Amino acid sequence: MKSLFIVGNWKSNKGIAEAHDWLRQFNAKCQMPNAKWKDLAIVLCVPYTLLNFLHDQIKQLNLPIVLGAQDVSPFGDGAYTGAVSARQVKEFADWVIIGHSERRKYFGETDEVLAQKVAQAKTAGLNIIYCVSDENTVIPDGVDAVAYEPVWAIGTGKAETPEHANAVIAGVKAKTQIRSVIYGGSVTPDNVASFLAQPAIDGVLPGGASLDAGIFAALILASQGQALQTL
Ligand code: PGA
Repeated sequence: MKSLFIVGNWKSNKGIAEAHDWLRQFNAKCQMPNAKWKDLAIVLCVPYTLLNFLHDQIKQLNLPIVLGAQDVSPFGDGAYTGAVSARQVKEFADWVIIGHSERRKYFGETDEVLAQKVAQAKTAGLNIIYCVSDENTVIPDGVDAVAYEPVWAIGTGKAETPEHANAVIAGVKAKTQIRSVIYGGSVTPDNVASFLAQPAIDGVLPGGASLDAGIFAALILASQGQALQTL
């Protein structure tokens, strides 16, 4: 059985009170006797403003979640107003998403800037999930995992077909040394199993479906072939 990787991406959503509510609900799901979280790495990528709070709460509640950021500065510490350095992120998180298509689209991030971000994250000891929109996207050295996310499938409710996602992901693996490649784009509790049943797909990156703790927990259970109605 392959070990699965589930990466929630909250994007620019939630303040402390909402994060607190989410944790309370997710914790309740974790206590349910049928909730088996084995062979699974759950990473939750949240806004910088929530990292400190979630870091403490996850520890306190002993939740099976590892924290990630959604971006990082291409520079180190220093006079870079508004930027958050990889070393600052690493105080709270073990993972970072770099190169999400929303960063490319809305913030004009180029391959060159993204390579700088990867280098900074690597130096700070962060694990990197690098997003690609197809098998031709340039992937910098030092990346730990890749997320294949076709732009048209993100936030649209129109997921890629599992077969085609598998073909692209197999293509990425054939071209690189990266062994962990996941799919993102309208992943839900209903379709997650169909992606994970594909031989090359090692996990999923749900955005919208990570915002509600019940839906996220249902997605995790469904990824392991467990019934939704038992939640
Ligand atoms: P979505 O987002 O699951 O809401 O489509 C995925 C992503 O952008 O990473």
